Order: sequence, then structure tokens, then C-alpha cells
Amino acid sequence: MTINLPKLIGHRGVRGLAPENTIQSIKKAIELNIKWVEIDVKISKDRIPFLLHDSNLERTTSGKGSPLNYKYNELYKLDAGSWFDKKQKNLYPPTLREVLDLCSQKNIGVNIELKPNKGFEEANVVAITELIMKHKFDCQYFFSSFDWYSLIKIRKLLPESRIGILIDGFDQKRNFTKVLNKCNEHNFFSCGFNITIISDEIIKACKNYGIQVTVYSSQNIEKYEAEEFWNLGVDSIFIDDPTSYKNMLE
Ligand code: G3P
Ligand code: MG
Repeated sequence: MTINLPKLIGHRGVRGLAPENTIQSIKKAIELNIKWVEIDVKISKDRIPFLLHDSNLERTTSGKGSPLNYKYNELYKLDAGSWFDKKQKNLYPPTLREVLDLCSQKNIGVNIELKPNKGFEEANVVAITELIMKHKFDCQYFFSSFDWYSLIKIRKLLPESRIGILIDGFDQKRNFTKVLNKCNEHNFFSCGFNITIISDEIIKACKNYGIQVTVYSSQNIEKYEAEEFWNLGVDSIFIDDPTSYKNMLE
């Protein structure tokens, strides 16, 4: 079963308006009528899938070093909000389970980005798979990653899942034709491209292969830019701050 991606996907919740990858950020997205959110997921020392973007804790929490050095009950005590806004010191890095429960209740779709720390790709996928098989959440979701290994592994463990690759750049080994062929081989339904490499040719080729196209950026994508992409056939834009999209979200 495929999904038709929405025009907008909240990036790490809505990371321009609330501390990324927190319950607060997802609730803010829901409040603004965003129907899908993207989150970055990795594991703790005791193999609990939880939300964090970076390999280390420093930038977005009060912790230090790799999250793999801490059990989740220690990560839960970290402050994941003050770095963004001094008043938001009661936020913590939530578990994937908590987020999928919330999104099931609110009927929000979730893009689970598999973001393993290096060397823990398999453990990450196994922990996420076990959680999903055990709880059978009620929301729509799909998996994405920059890491082919993680995606191919999840295709084996959860054969029915919807999966998309993320592409930050091309090189000789990973040229666009090879990406498309590999997507076809593993039945991936989408490709997400960095805004710096997306082009009309890429969009057209993906569409010819029946692959949905998403675009992400390190900065917020404003509505006038998104409209150009949608007109070219892009399905979804990851947004940090949907303020300029207000009219279409009402
Ligand atoms: O999935 C789009 C986007 O989240 C990929 O980049 O670094 O923000 O996880 P990043
Ligand atoms: Mg991400």
C-alpha cells in the first residue's frame, strides 16, 4: 500500500518554532494544522528508540557525548529545550513510542528518519522494528534515511513498510541512475533531495519511475520557493517554520 505524501512535512516537528524533535515541536506542528511530521530516531544504550538528530547530545540537550553511553531513563532527565529558548527547560528527548502514540491519537502521519549512530545501524533498525511490531500504532508512517543499509534492513524486517532514500549529493559511485535503479530494486516509494541538488531533470526522472519526490534544506523553505517546486512536480517540502504557508493551512 502506498501513501500520497502531503505538500508539507514538518521538519523535526517544526524546528523553527520549537525545540526540534520534542513533543512540544510536534504539538506545535499539529496546532498549526500540519498533517505529517518528520523526526530523527536513534537508540539509547538500552536500545530504546528516541528522538535526536546529531551523533552527540551537546547541541540540542544538556547532555554530553554519545547517546549510546546513556540508558533512556538518563536521557529522559536531560533538558532538550533551553538551548532553543531559556523558558523551555522542561522538555526532554522523547521516545519514538511516545511520539507514535501521540500521532496515532491525533491522526498525524510520521516520517521516521533512521538516524543511527555509526556502527549501530543494525541495532537501531532492530529496536525500531520490535517497537512497531509490538505496538501496531494507528498512524500512517514511512521510513527514510541517508543510510542504504538501514533501509534495506528494514525492508527485510518489515516487508510491507513504505521506505524512501535521502540524497545529499552525488558522486561517481552514487550517481542518479544508480540511485533510481536501487530504489526500484528495493521497492522504495520516495526520494528526498537536498535543495542544493534538486533539478527539473531529477524530478522528471523520479516521476517516470513512479517515485515520489521530497525536498529538504538546512534553512526554512519559504512558500514562494515551495510553489516553484510543487509546480515542477515535487510532492513534499520539509518545513521548519510554516508561517508563510498560513493561508493554505487554515
Ligand atoms: O528528511 C529530511 C531531513 O530531515 C534530512 O536531513 O539532517 O534534517 O535529518 P536532516
Ligand atoms: Mg531528519
